[in-house]
Amino acid sequence: MHPLQCVLQTQRWGPLASVSWLLLRTCRAHSSVPSTACPSSERQQEDGVRKDFSSRLASGPTFQHFLRSASAPQEKPDMEDPPPYLTVDELLGRQRKVYLETYGCQMNVNDTEIAWSVLQKSGYLRTRNLQEADVILLVTCSIREKAEQTIWNRLHQLKALKTKRLRSQVPLRIGILGCMAERLKEEILNREKMVDILAGPDAYRDLPRLLAVAESGQQAANVLLSLDETYADVMPVQTSPSATSAFVSIMRGCDNMCSYCIVPFTRGRERSRPVASILEEVRKLSEQGLKEVTLLGQNVNSFRDSSEVQFNNAVSTNLSRGFSTNYKPKQGGLRFAHLLDQVSRVDPEMRIRFTSPHPKDFPDEVLQLIHERDNICKQIHLPAQSGSSRVLEAMRRGYSREAYVELIHHIRESIPGVSLSSDFIAGFCGETEEDHLQTVSLLREVQYNMGFLFAYSMRRKTRAYHRLKDDVPEEVKLRRLEELITVFREEATKANMASVGCTQLVLVEGHSKRSATDLCGRNDGNLKVIFPDVEMEDVNNSEVKVRAQPGDYVLVKITSTSSQTLKGHVLCRTTLKDSSVYC
Ligand code: 5AD
Ligand code: SF4
Repeated sequence: MHPLQCVLQTQRWGPLASVSWLLLRTCRAHSSVPSTACPSSERQQEDGVRKDFSSRLASGPTFQHFLRSASAPQEKPDMEDPPPYLTVDELLGRQRKVYLETYGCQMNVNDTEIAWSVLQKSGYLRTRNLQEADVILLVTCSIREKAEQTIWNRLHQLKALKTKRLRSQVPLRIGILGCMAERLKEEILNREKMVDILAGPDAYRDLPRLLAVAESGQQAANVLLSLDETYADVMPVQTSPSATSAFVSIMRGCDNMCSYCIVPFTRGRERSRPVASILEEVRKLSEQGLKEVTLLGQNVNSFRDSSEVQFNNAVSTNLSRGFSTNYKPKQGGLRFAHLLDQVSRVDPEMRIRFTSPHPKDFPDEVLQLIHERDNICKQIHLPAQSGSSRVLEAMRRGYSREAYVELIHHIRESIPGVSLSSDFIAGFCGETEEDHLQTVSLLREVQYNMGFLFAYSMRRKTRAYHRLKDDVPEEVKLRRLEELITVFREEATKANMASVGCTQLVLVEGHSKRSATDLCGRNDGNLKVIFPDVEMEDVNNSEVKVRAQPGDYVLVKITSTSSQTLKGHVLCRTTLKDSSVYC
């Protein structure tokens, strides 16, 4: 057998059937694997399993099997319907303990819960103790080189743990999930022989099968990207029962193809979850008493539910003025304004946020709704990436500095008091000192309340990798980044100063990490607010004094600020609809 046994697997990819792969590799077939990787007791045990597995593998799966799956794209891997080379029993977790570790963005936090939900259903247990884990899964990020380096370092640490466990009865299995699995594929399996499974962002339903294959000593991978996977029916498990807020995934993937970004390659094409299933999840969260949901997606406001034919007659919405796309205009479907309207009606006491949007998809309907609805937070993330039109063009962002600034003015007029945040990249290909100063001036002009700033990191596969030169020296990137951070902080401090003396509605999260006598919560703009934990009046019952609990809304008078936090004193406990916020 060839050491790298590739089984071709086809999956529907729009009208064209693309061919991707599924990898199975035996431990023994690789002479470079140190013998300790298959110690004798484990090896004997695994030999038996492997023989049995090999004979079953010989009787299937056939190429036809994969073609069958291809013609039935809705068919998802399922415990009751195992592939012919595995038994139902082998797909079960049998109480093995899984330790999940998350890196990167909020989408990965949500993906971790999806992966856990799939494994829990399959009979796995979750542990927060690394030492007692039978399976360690890292949910990874590829957005910048540094993010990947963190994972490689972590894998080296885990190597010692795995070697120790080779002497025990139950071998430790290690899996790489998410963007890095998708981006590096076999490079990970080749570089780190101790990695047992790889699962790309659209392959989490397949985890029980991948782990079952790994049990027989094989490496297993599924990095197929899908056109329609939204995990709509996999309700993530709420991990903290005391949580006041939750993330609800509404769409996945990205079609924008900004020239620096790896996301379209790791997370695939844009697809939206059906409105009905989103509303069902939000209703459940409201019944559980949660007070805040954040709608989540790579391009959350490009949402377009085309799951039913009649949705294609929906009135079309426009792009923001002066913005264009890198793809052909899309038609029909239920859009973000419709979803936001529906979600905000589920529970008037539930705050609604969304992240991360693209500035091109802010039609007036969305802005109007944010302005009108008390429970939609007046907070918009508007990633600019650069203040220079020349750099924005090289980034293929689809707008100029002028169009972006005009949008900012329009948003501020439409939603008075709106809180704004942005992402910026320092040192993109060809960025001159003049371009950099344009970004500095945009930071001064807009005066964002929050900012996420990064040094450019060239990613293979992207358009910038193929067409542009990563010509800004590392030290210049870092110096420019430092300058952007300093200017952002100065401006944010000024912007936050404006709220001193104002009364703000705060959703209490719990005690402040720094002081047990203080409480911590978030204002409508998502900034942290710290205030003393004292007794207060309840607006609906002035007879009793209460202490605020996580999930309560309180009014706080702001007394001081920094670039990241506000401080104040609490006035009373209230409800979202009864609150009157004033300055
Ligand atoms: N280098 C640096 N920052 C990047 N981002 C995306 N790709 C890169 C890259 N190659 C930043 C963008 C994006 C945020 C999520 O990460 O600012 O908005
Ligand atoms: Fe990346 Fe651009 Fe898509 Fe954001 S919009 S995920 S930056 S390609």
